[in-house]
Amino acid sequence: MIKTIGVLTSGGDAPGMNAAIRAVVRAGCELGMQVYGIRRGYNGLMENDMYEMNLRSVSDIINRGGTILYSARSPRFKTEEGMQDAIATCKKRGIGGLVVIGGDGSFRGARDLSLRGIPCVALPGTIDNDIGCCDYTIGYDTAMNTIMQMVDRIRDTTESHDRCAVVEVMGRGAGYLALNAGVACGATSILIPEVPYDFERDVIERMKRTQKSNKVHFVILVSEAIGGVDEMAKRIQSETGVETRATILGHVQRGGSPTAKDRIVASQMGYRAVQLLKDGIGNRVVAMQKETVLDFDIFEALNMKNHVDLDMYKMALEISI
Ligand code: ADP
Ligand code: F6P
Repeated sequence: MIKTIGVLTSGGDAPGMNAAIRAVVRAGCELGMQVYGIRRGYNGLMENDMYEMNLRSVSDIINRGGTILYSARSPRFKTEEGMQDAIATCKKRGIGGLVVIGGDGSFRGARDLSLRGIPCVALPGTIDNDIGCCDYTIGYDTAMNTIMQMVDRIRDTTESHDRCAVVEVMGRGAGYLALNAGVACGATSILIPEVPYDFERDVIERMKRTQKSNKVHFVILVSEAIGGVDEMAKRIQSETGVETRATILGHVQRGGSPTAKDRIVASQMGYRAVQLLKDGIGNRVVAMQKETVLDFDIFEALNMKNHVDLDMYKMALEISI
């Protein structure tokens, strides 16, 4: 059995990361493992910045957004020199296995460490839900609910003033957040990178059509991969006559107390990671597919593709008119 493990959070933080850390630490301690909490992602591993955690180190964090271990993007870790520093730290501390919580960039780091003999188990932690082998990533549900609450507020004022709101949401290169939050908010149009769009047809004409059935206020949801919401707002105003405001929701989407779903999935995934390492199994990605927690070979996982639900997009077009 691996006697000493480390846990780190890397890349953009996501609500639920703390619940995952808690599960890793508690499950590890219960098995008699020594568990190190590594600060600031791969930076802490390269710089030997970590502390030993115990059952009480993770008290009162299941409900907290962010990550108590802090997170970072660590460009130096992508170099051979950085990688060797990380391996040297593992040797110095006797770390026999690592739990890496992050997005697909962090997974590539875990894959490279695994290739160099440090068994890693990676957990999907990102609000973007953009990891190939996963239907669901830790943080996605909280971010989606935050977007929904923010857009509901925008809708209140939009309704009061007979306006149109163009709202940009995060998701990096993927449209999961925009599409699903768009459905939850009843957006008139949803623009995502996975579906080619024609602004005239998909926004202006749809608005004009709904105006004919007496609709007077509108929400247009735009994925950050498309962007350009200020220009869109100007164009909508001049072509439809509807006063329009643009909002970029920004980092509010990354914070906040995790939803029940994020806490539960993060706990299951953290627990699973330790069970794998306990049996000496590394080089795995823990994933959720069809509501079931599974694990995949890290190399295979990085080659898998996840697709947005185009039927959902089609449905949204039909019912939000
Ligand atoms: P995320 O994990 O959210 O996708 P990043 O893409 O910024 O975030 O990746 C987080 C960190 O993972 C990077 O700063 C780097 O240290 C490491 N990483 C990213 N890509 C690679 C890669 N191709 N090889 C090794 N490490 C990587
Ligand atoms: O990957 C999470 C995410 O919030 C993306 O949605 C967004 O594109 C990016 O990180 C923002 O990164 P930063 O916090 O570095 O501005």
